[in-house]
Amino acid sequence: MIKVLITGGAGFIGSNFVRYMLERHSDYQIVVLDKLTYAGNLLNLKDLLNEPRLTVVRLDLCDPGVAEVVSGCEFVVHLAAESHVDRSIHDAAVFVRTNVEGTLQLVECCRRANVKRYVQVSTDEVYGSLGPRGKFTETSPIDPSSPYSASKAAADMLVQSYFRTHRFPAMITRCSNNYGPYQFPEKFIPLMISQALANQNLPVYGDGQNVRNWIHVTDHCVALDLILHRGREGQVYNIGGPSECANLTLARRILELTNRPKSLIKFVTDRPGHDRRYAINYGKLKKEMGWEPAIEFEQGLAQTIEWYEGNTVWLETTKNGEYREYFKKYYLHTAAERA
Ligand code: NAD
Ligand code: TYD
Repeated sequence: MIKVLITGGAGFIGSNFVRYMLERHSDYQIVVLDKLTYAGNLLNLKDLLNEPRLTVVRLDLCDPGVAEVVSGCEFVVHLAAESHVDRSIHDAAVFVRTNVEGTLQLVECCRRANVKRYVQVSTDEVYGSLGPRGKFTETSPIDPSSPYSASKAAADMLVQSYFRTHRFPAMITRCSNNYGPYQFPEKFIPLMISQALANQNLPVYGDGQNVRNWIHVTDHCVALDLILHRGREGQVYNIGGPSECANLTLARRILELTNRPKSLIKFVTDRPGHDRRYAINYGKLKKEMGWEPAIEFEQGLAQTIEWYEGNTVWLETTKNGEYREYFKKYYLHTAAERA
């Protein structure tokens, strides 16, 4: 068995990636390291918690115990992070602690443990904002606008320095906005779906003309798996979705697909420092590994709405905080087992 560490495996992309890797690689033993913050939800892995090839360790990236968890792992995919821009505006400190200090501690432990390959899962947001034309390439300047993206940019620079200084075998990925199952309903798409299903207002920031380049989380998982195995060490790879969409257009489409009235849209005060547009040139990944997004946005969006409609228990317990109780039960159970 090949041991693979996935940090942040109880979060949105992490839990999708854990599922993808278990299905795709029958010889992989997956270790999830996750602090289980508000965004870490064991319900995301509920169907897998009895899987013998999966171990979940509840730990903060900044805890010295990380060294022990890393030991014996051949591959590491680092997804754990504080990930929501709006939260970073209100409290930047936890973003620096987790995203910068946590990443430093992780890469140092990985270097000492001679990890064979490491993927730093970063974001297109490190490039800042685009005007109406052009796309980010891997050589676009790093120009973050929010404390979130600044902390991710700092982590990228640390990982790059470990490659240059220590020949640490790392790749950095920068993906555009993800959507799909198990996304915490504070991010735009699950929030809009959840509000629509509850016949509540959909809060659209500013004029609603900010543009995002949406990618289905499964397409992101496919790219991460390819880069983990075939990426060139020290390289950055952009990952992007099939199409761009303005927030207002997307909110209206979600209302159409859920048969709710357009009057539910409510324009609210804009986010400070709100990036206007993101767009990704993923030509490097396509050229080197033949990757392209396979899930068309309209189809992926309809499937995602169906998923939230069909998973009301997940949605309701996530919204009302009851998913936290599920952690307690799970950990009491495993602690009792260990005793
Ligand atoms: P998420 O917020 O859903 O999940 C983050 C996970 O990290 C949670 O399980 C949380 O418990 C865990 N975590 C947070 N702080 C931790 C700490 N100190 N120690 C250990 N675990 C901790 O995030 P996501 O949307 O799944 O994003 C995953 C990664 O992908 C992040 O690094 C993010 O920057 C990046 N990314 C996200 C998107 C997107 O659209 N969601 C796009 C590009 C890149
Ligand atoms: P978000 O999902 O927070 O991702 P990011 O800011 O990392 O791109 O937001 C996506 C877009 O939706 C962004 O332009 C901000 C906007 N937005 C709203 O209009 N209303 C909301 O309630 C939220 C959370 C976001």
